[in-house]
Amino acid sequence: MKRSVAFLACETTLPGMPNRRSDAYEFDRQFGVLREAFASHGVTLEAKDWTEAPSQFATFDAVVIGTPWNYQDHQSQFLAQLEAIEAEGLPLLNPADLVAWNVRKTYLRELADAGTPTIPTLWVDVPTAAHVEALLSEHEGVVIKRQVGAGAAGQRIFRRGDVVPEGPLLDRAAMVQPFMPSIQTEGELSFIFIDGAFSHAILKTARDGDYRIQSMFGGREKAITPPEGDIVAARSVVDRVPFATPLYARIDMVRDGEGQLCLMEAEMIEPYLYPLEGPTMAGMYAEAVLRRL
Ligand SMILES: Nc1ncnc2c1ncn2[C@@H]1O[C@H](COP(=O)(O)OP(=O)(O)O)[C@@H](O)[C@H]1O
Ligand SMILES: [Mg+2]
Repeated sequence: MKRSVAFLACETTLPGMPNRRSDAYEFDRQFGVLREAFASHGVTLEAKDWTEAPSQFATFDAVVIGTPWNYQDHQSQFLAQLEAIEAEGLPLLNPADLVAWNVRKTYLRELADAGTPTIPTLWVDVPTAAHVEALLSEHEGVVIKRQVGAGAAGQRIFRRGDVVPEGPLLDRAAMVQPFMPSIQTEGELSFIFIDGAFSHAILKTARDGDYRIQSMFGGREKAITPPEGDIVAARSVVDRVPFATPLYARIDMVRDGEGQLCLMEAEMIEPYLYPLEGPTMAGMYAEAVLRRL
């Protein structure tokens, strides 16, 4: 029988939807190259809304998490759905337990304890001016972000000289970090690993005047050939993930003042994998899925 794999997307990334996100072309690229790679093995890749009934997935040989980018607004439903899909008895990649771990950025603390260089972070339930001012005495800026978040949603930045308002600076559990100036001079590096093997790397830079590298904010990306030492630094992050080797991992890093790569985040839920910049990625991905069937 012909084999098939489901690619989880959502109503804001699937084609033809009226409320499609402005960055949904990333779905087109990622799904497009993966579909071709699976097709070359005689396997069909089909895009599905992640909210469909779990039984709808039972006929597939595996489910991969693609671009369910609205899951942030329905987080517990999303995690429950992933478990329900696994309960249908087929491989889900990445698996639900790894996703649940990866949802809350407190995993950065665990990776730091295991030896990964990270951005020094205050983990606070209610961030206030006092937290910001403490860091502003030593750094030119402070970034406050959600412990659970994506796409820079809800993120705030304060620079030296800014008036920091009284009261809670974010309405949920937060991370308070020094602003890393290299984000605006060098950019953020992403290292893509498929089944533990390095595929490719890219450099993402922000639009002039911004510090967020996401395409939604006008950020740009280009393929780079990183020095071996940078790849080793990124690989050691993947190696420290306390689960079986993930099908896909995007290791986002930024350099500190000493030039050392620090982990910004390790994306193992629904990362954009920059398929155009890494022509070997899709083939590695399809083969890794087939190995797990
Ligand atoms: N401490 C920081 N210093 C400089 N830039 C930051 C810092 N934290 C976040 N950013 C910027 O904001 C973006 C989003 O932050 P990130 O931690 O990757 O969260 P997410 O992508 O999950 O929303 C980063 O890609 C980077 O451009
Ligand atoms: Mg990010």
